[in-house]
Amino acid sequence: MDSLLIKGGVPLNGDVTISGAKNAVLPILAATLLTSEPCVVHRVPDLSDVRFMSQILTWLGAEVKSEGGTIRVRAKKIKGAGDYDLVRKMRGSICIMGPLLGRLREARVSLPGGCVIGARPINLHLKGLASLGAKVTIESGYVQAKAKRLVGASMFLGGRAGSTVLGTANVMMAAVLAEGVTVIESAACEPEVTDLANFLNAMGAKIAGIGSPTLTITGVKQLHGAEHEVIPDRIEAATYAIAAATTNGEVTLRGARADHLGAVLDKLHDSGVATHCDASGITVKRNGKLKPIDITTLPYSGFPTDAQAQMMALMAVTPGISIITERIFESRFMHVSELSRLGADIEIEGPSAIVKGGKPLSGAPVMASDLRASAALVIAGLAAKGNTQVNRVYHLDRGYEKIDVKLRQLGARVERIEES
Ligand code: EPZ
Repeated sequence: MDSLLIKGGVPLNGDVTISGAKNAVLPILAATLLTSEPCVVHRVPDLSDVRFMSQILTWLGAEVKSEGGTIRVRAKKIKGAGDYDLVRKMRGSICIMGPLLGRLREARVSLPGGCVIGARPINLHLKGLASLGAKVTIESGYVQAKAKRLVGASMFLGGRAGSTVLGTANVMMAAVLAEGVTVIESAACEPEVTDLANFLNAMGAKIAGIGSPTLTITGVKQLHGAEHEVIPDRIEAATYAIAAATTNGEVTLRGARADHLGAVLDKLHDSGVATHCDASGITVKRNGKLKPIDITTLPYSGFPTDAQAQMMALMAVTPGISIITERIFESRFMHVSELSRLGADIEIEGPSAIVKGGKPLSGAPVMASDLRASAALVIAGLAAKGNTQVNRVYHLDRGYEKIDVKLRQLGARVERIEES
């Protein structure tokens, strides 16, 4: 398994271009299953998760062509059952369920298990699909949904931690081809859900209330092909912004959208980091001394859970006490023990981590456990004195396009060690 060797202590400087959003492109690719006509998706990031989704679509019978950041899909004739192993490998692929049920009135996919960050049940997805009239069963590790007719309905899709991103996506993708009107209350408002809804409307769907917690979907008989450019990845942008602040550099995030990053920019300002936003992107650099802050992760437009670990790396080098509370996933502090190996002083108290920041970090071998935890280890390694080796970078490759190349463009001393 590849690892990254980071020689720390160099401030990041320069421009980095933000890729398309992983968490928008996955459901958008799944949505291409809703029509037999060709779809074209631009600004597709080169990530292992995207390659997985393309394999799943191909397995289902779709024609998939990928070339230089553009994917062309034609799902002329498809089957309703996803390959057990492929789907099991990537949780995000659960979002093929809605389109398959919408188009074929049946879907059978392997039940995604939990992952290191939490149990991650799909009860809300299934509740929503059942409200549309689907008969949902779970057997031998598969979840199956079948419906003679899909009929629009009103439903409340909020759960323990508020709205569900992929749950909203799944139900929306089934409801666009249902009879009548569906109203989803407590719908997720993440920009990735908005991007998906805009793509569906470009295919001829009728979705209103996009970006709000109340989505109204008027079903149509069929959808047609469409062409779409995916939004920039706000979590990748947040990661490079935080890396710039942590290494005391100055970085311009080309193509990043400030309107998707409100809570992140707000917390960066509170911690003593200046940002300048214009049409070309966002420039980030420290504005004097760093200050400790408190953060609580929430559904959008609150502070994103996917930037929590990276922010913890910044707080580890910030003198004073910061408190980071994780409200979305029940076990998303896997990075704490590895950051402590680099010399950070962090204690976990229930859903909160208390960061006693400001101690100098020193390089060490560390182990990535999940996508965003590994991004935090890279940021801490960039700020630490000496060498840090981040192992299992396959976690990073799932969500960051060419991270070592982009970091080197910003002056970092990073090398990918490929395991023979
Ligand atoms: C999406 O996951 C993202 N993944 C996650 O990003 C992100 O962390 C998450 O949304 C929250 O923003 C993709 O888009 C591929 P949820 P999703 O359903 O949709 C509970 C990354 O790093 N819940 O919004 O699976 C759930 O357990 C990844 O890029 C239920 O209880 O997340 C969690 O506590 C990690 N029942 C909370 O809701 C359900 O049926 C939010 O989960 C569904 C969810």
